[in-house]
Amino acid sequence: MRFAKVFTVLVAALFVTAMAYTVVAAPTYVGVNQCKMCHMKQYNVWKGTAHAKAFDVLKPADQAKPACVKCHVTGDNKSLPGVQCEACHGPGSEYKMFSVMKNLKEAEAKGLTPKPVGVCVKCHNKNSPNFKGFDFKTMWPKIQHGL
Ligand code: HEC
Ligand code: HEC
Ligand code: HEC
Ligand code: HEC
Repeated sequence: MRFAKVFTVLVAALFVTAMAYTVVAAPTYVGVNQCKMCHMKQYNVWKGTAHAKAFDVLKPADQAKPACVKCHVTGDNKSLPGVQCEACHGPGSEYKMFSVMKNLKEAEAKGLTPKPVGVCVKCHNKNSPNFKGFDFKTMWPKIQHGL
């Protein structure tokens, strides 16, 4: 009787542990080169925009200031300089595989934001010392990268 109880508890504990490991991994940023291989057209447009150079425009002293860097890199990570694809479309580790990407619903469930129109103002706002105002209708055409 007691053995059965202990056994049940043990099995339950194992189950919970297993669940913890199989639960969907939190998506992480993979970098623009991981998107480029399948989205060459979007990449070529992006490369010519201010976003691609957003880290380079900071003076070296400012590149060392987290308060400046946060809006000039991707995922608050200096090893991903500039405003890359994932800064808008979401971290891609879980959706970048062809098997996932070809199915928009599944890609969304795994972290893709296909039309991230609301994300702009996370950076284009008054916390930016160089804020010039933001209007999606006039700003989007400058970075538009349709298929
Ligand atoms: C292995 C190839 C592959 C990789 C790598 C890849 N994608 Fe895709 N992506 C696709 C395919 C295929 C589609 C679907 C295109 C279609 O419907 O015509 C797609 C669609 C998209 C769409 C449009 C969704 C829609 O239909 O509105 C976005 C946005 C996108 N990908 C972003 C990214 C980003 C950001 C990365 C890098 C993190 C990335 N993709 C990496 C193949 C890829
Ligand atoms: C809240 C996000 C954010 C923060 C924080 C931020 N920036 Fe920016 N920065 C932007 C945006 C967005 C632009 C594009 C200008 C615009 O349209 O508002 C920009 C543009 C720039 C430019 C390009 C020149 C220009 O006038 O467009 C420089 C240089 C710059 N920022 C330096 C800095 C420095 C230095 C700091 C830290 C003291 C900083 N930024 C902090 C978002 C930010
Ligand atoms: C992660 C922060 C971030 C996000 C999100 C972001 N931007 Fe920016 N954006 C910047 C920074 C920083 C610059 C300045 C880069 C430079 O001067 O090289 C900039 C520059 C620009 C510029 C060029 C400046 C100009 O006045 O011509 C345009 C256009 C622009 N962004 C549009 C957008 C749009 C549209 C969105 C949303 C779809 C968006 N941005 C989302 C940070 C961001
Ligand atoms: C500054 C934010 C931003 C960045 C950076 C960005 N995108 Fe987008 N992207 C958007 C927005 C917003 C849309 C949807 C606009 C709409 O349909 O109204 C979009 C649309 C797309 C689409 C769908 C296009 C279509 O015609 O349906 C693809 C694919 C895509 N992006 C891939 C990429 C890739 C790959 C990169 C990096 C090389 C990238 N994006 C960088 C904001 C961004």
